[in-house]
Amino acid sequence: MSSQPDQTATAPETTGDAGPAYLGIDVGGSGIKGALVDLSSGKLIGERNRIATPHPATPKAVADVVAQLSDSWPPSPGGVQANFGCTVPGVVKAGLIKTAANIDPLWIGCDAASLYTGATGRNCRVINDADAAGLAELRFGAGAGRGGTIAVITLGTGIGSALFVDGHLVPNTEMGHFEIDGRDAELFAAASVREIEKLKWKEWAGRLNRYLEGFNRLIWPDLIILGGGISKKADKFLPHLHLDVEVVPALLHNDAGIIGAALVASEDSRPTP
Ligand code: BGC
Repeated sequence: MSSQPDQTATAPETTGDAGPAYLGIDVGGSGIKGALVDLSSGKLIGERNRIATPHPATPKAVADVVAQLSDSWPPSPGGVQANFGCTVPGVVKAGLIKTAANIDPLWIGCDAASLYTGATGRNCRVINDADAAGLAELRFGAGAGRGGTIAVITLGTGIGSALFVDGHLVPNTEMGHFEIDGRDAELFAAASVREIEKLKWKEWAGRLNRYLEGFNRLIWPDLIILGGGISKKADKFLPHLHLDVEVVPALLHNDAGIIGAALVASEDSRPTP
């Protein structure tokens, strides 16, 4: 069954003075989103397309949606690049998926890079979703121009983490999975938990504070950037956080994964993480 995009893409043939456009696709628990990105500014070019994540979200079903999105922006000489980037919410080592905390277990051991490349007919580079969001925030968002140790924590269905030391990514840190009171931290403090358990903002912020305290005790970063869709509502929970580290909301919100995926697609010389 093919799903219909929520929006119609306006895909330009070229990007004018902005340089080549890279396609980034972000695979999330509820939606798979794609857009062209101008990497000189970090801005999306035209609309983004979103197709609901299929259920079950098996590798084949997700690859079909990725191919449908890829077809919205075909490569063009001097315009849309043939390479594209795609995120996966799991550990990615050399294109292979190693964990599946919030995705179908069939993903474990899957060569996602080859799967997407085969499904779309264009070369795909794959990166963990939080690492992609982190790359985007460091280049174009709340971490731009900052050095030292920076953590980007994404709060969504699960908790993702991206760690940077003087701008260099330490990939696959998976800091959503240390234990709090004997349970996986993301089951205690992810944004989804607020909704599932119908927690008041202050109550959830208390849990987030506890999570970030634990995180800080392990990593001691200079800055924590809080991302995910919930970062748009930072005024509801940030005032309740009391931590011995600077904490700021992300600036790119839900577009960070798309922009980070496009960044990875543009880095031809870099091995797939
Ligand atoms: C996964 C991470 C992912 C995060 C956010 C976690 O459950 O283990 O790989 O980055 O969710 O999607």
